[in-house]
Amino acid sequence: MPDIFHPSDVPSLHLVNHPLIQHKLTIMRMKETGTKEFRELLSEISMLMAYEITRDFPLRDVEIETPVAPCCGKMLEGKKLGIVPILRAGLGMLDGILMLVPAARVGHIGLYRDPETLAPVEYYAKLPSGVEDRTLIVPDPMLATGGSASAALALLKEKGAKNIILMCLVSAPEGVRRVAADHPDVPIYVAAVDECLNSHGYIVPGLGDAGDRIFGTL
Ligand code: PRP
Ligand code: URA
Repeated sequence: MPDIFHPSDVPSLHLVNHPLIQHKLTIMRMKETGTKEFRELLSEISMLMAYEITRDFPLRDVEIETPVAPCCGKMLEGKKLGIVPILRAGLGMLDGILMLVPAARVGHIGLYRDPETLAPVEYYAKLPSGVEDRTLIVPDPMLATGGSASAALALLKEKGAKNIILMCLVSAPEGVRRVAADHPDVPIYVAAVDECLNSHGYIVPGLGDAGDRIFGTL
């Protein structure tokens, strides 16, 4: 029975459904789409989503001189952004974000889902310095049960992070609800909320195994 889900019931959820994103995501979902095109589209969508996510980032005034006259410009305030993809599949979103924010610092969290229990297993973590003072974007294309994302956010908070944004391509209602309940302070940006999970914990209709499609390990 499909889950009746209303995005507006989850205050921390932001659905980024720009027409270009929807078009590209539909091509990614197609089973015929090969690794090269899948990767390119994920990168393009990540850039478009990053543009939306950074829309309200705070700015500071800076006094500069153009070749014509002095003026007051605006620059991003605070420490450089941190991007912390969840391995492996989150890596597929990194380049697209870095295209917009090339000076960002990059960390990695290694998690995989145990195929039997679906519980996240941590195998790697390396973060940039000063996570407590940075805004961190955590990209992962798939938000299914929400176990991996919730564990990654908990790990970042343990290390002192206070300002975290979760960025996923496709989500299931179960995953959105789980992360919103475990981490109500973390904004969740997604390009789609699909119908449900199947008995293997895959998003329906989803796009299959994101890591395998990005890295050609099917
Ligand atoms: C996928 C995906 C998420 C996780 C989502 O990773 O990239 O990290 O599953 O599922 P969940 O919401 O139920 O935790 P996977 O474990 O397949 O590892 P991979 O990225 O190395 O392929
Ligand atoms: N991980 C994926 O890659 N795809 C899903 O549908 C669920 C978890």
